[in-house]
Amino acid sequence: MPASPRVHPKRKILLIEDTLPLATLYVEYLRAEPLAVTHVTTGREALAAAAANPPDAVVLDLKLPDMEGLEVLKALQARDPGVSVVIVTAHGSIDIAVEAMRLGAFDFIVKPFNADRLKLTLRNALERRALASIVAGYRKDLDRGRFHGFIGGSPEMQAVYRTIESVAASRANVFITGESGTGKEVAAQAIHRASPRRDRAFVALNCAAIPKDLLESEIFGHVKGAFTGATGDRPGAALLADGGTLFLDEICEMPIDLQSKLLRFVQTGTVAPVGSGREQRVDVRFVAATNRDPLGEVQCGRFREDLYYRLHVIPLALPPLRERGEDVVEIARALLTDYAREEGKALAGFAPEVEARLRAHDWPGNVRQLQNVLRNVAVLHDGPLVTPDMLPPLMMPQGAAASARAANGSQPDGGGPADGDAVLPLWRVEKEMIQRALRLTGDDVPRAALLLEISPSTIYRKLQQWRLSDERAA
Ligand SMILES: Nc1ncnc2c1ncn2[C@@H]1O[C@H](COP(=O)(O)OP(=O)(O)OP(=O)(O)O)[C@@H](O)[C@H]1O
Ligand SMILES: [Mg+2]
Repeated sequence: MPASPRVHPKRKILLIEDTLPLATLYVEYLRAEPLAVTHVTTGREALAAAAANPPDAVVLDLKLPDMEGLEVLKALQARDPGVSVVIVTAHGSIDIAVEAMRLGAFDFIVKPFNADRLKLTLRNALERRALASIVAGYRKDLDRGRFHGFIGGSPEMQAVYRTIESVAASRANVFITGESGTGKEVAAQAIHRASPRRDRAFVALNCAAIPKDLLESEIFGHVKGAFTGATGDRPGAALLADGGTLFLDEICEMPIDLQSKLLRFVQTGTVAPVGSGREQRVDVRFVAATNRDPLGEVQCGRFREDLYYRLHVIPLALPPLRERGEDVVEIARALLTDYAREEGKALAGFAPEVEARLRAHDWPGNVRQLQNVLRNVAVLHDGPLVTPDMLPPLMMPQGAAASARAANGSQPDGGGPADGDAVLPLWRVEKEMIQRALRLTGDDVPRAALLLEISPSTIYRKLQQWRLSDERAA
């Protein structure tokens, strides 16, 4: 019988048979098949062999000197529920073979049998095994509506999850791109958490948020007296991330002179704290992120090409929310549940029209914008369902903060309240400060709230008040 092309080359067979002449005969039967056959004579040997080199299929003689055949079957299945076990039985003990089938054995053959019978049964067993793993693979993907902090089961996100999973084990550097609010930081953390480095530090450094002259010492650390204000030795992010992951967020904002120092670090794996010549070796995995087009930045000369290629080993592009189909509704439901609980509201779902609007919106601020919209709803409204009238004008392209700014166009928004000696009404100072914080953070209400040291709800309430008073004035 010609070898079936559907049998994968060198599938692994574990043959458990204590009668040596029979074992020799079976091995001979299978010699022309693309199989790697391992032969053992006892149950204990079988379990050790299965642990050391997991087989794709097993041929198991139920009569063994040291263990009950059914026990061996159960132990093999406990190790690998997908393993296909073919039972070999004597004519008189078919009832045990039937019991083995009930326990999940794939098939049984009655002694004596010829070569074709054995080959055919094994081919079927291997095929079932292959199908089972394909199905398991699909199921795993389909089941993944959530992945390390991500919500969303769209095919676009499944591809992201697969990339993260497949790169996590290596120490290859990953370069994450994606519009603002698409989850770049979530992805960086997922890479760390899925990696063998998960028990070591994940250190995130936002190159845009740290003043340029402090950035070098933030990365590399400094020694006492390295510069005014350096009152003691301080380890930098590189050292803190030793053995773990260093996340260089908004990498394109890094000043060009610092980029060359970073390049050296990426190339050599050594760092010297500012003010010290002593090089130190550290073991970090780099994950970088930007919402810019990094190659465009290279072409404009703002980002070093050599650094780009060092960091851009595995590209990971996060799709915009508007391209993730139903994910927007899935994420919205999860956020609504959280926010309703936090705000003590009974909001439990969306009116169908609201879901339709969530799907149709283009979400320029992606998941973060969706968070803002739902926080706004949860702070200002209550009821079992979110209805269309509760949606903020944020659902228009520029967002509530932007429309609040636009509405403010009638008032000159000078350099701010600190200008000259002018004393301004307190409400105006407040409004200008909130608007400035929103501008600085790209309408990120929670971040603006952090800067202002107030709660996000306060900002949402103010935005609502201003909108109402603007509407009244109009
Ligand atoms: N798929 C998702 N499911 C649930 N929450 C998400 C998802 N993606 C992002 N988030 C949440 O959205 C917010 C923004 O995500 P993150 O900070 O990772 O975005 P980013 O791409 O780094 O944005 P930026 O470019 O503005 O820094 C975070 O609170 C994050 O937890
Ligand atoms: Mg980010």
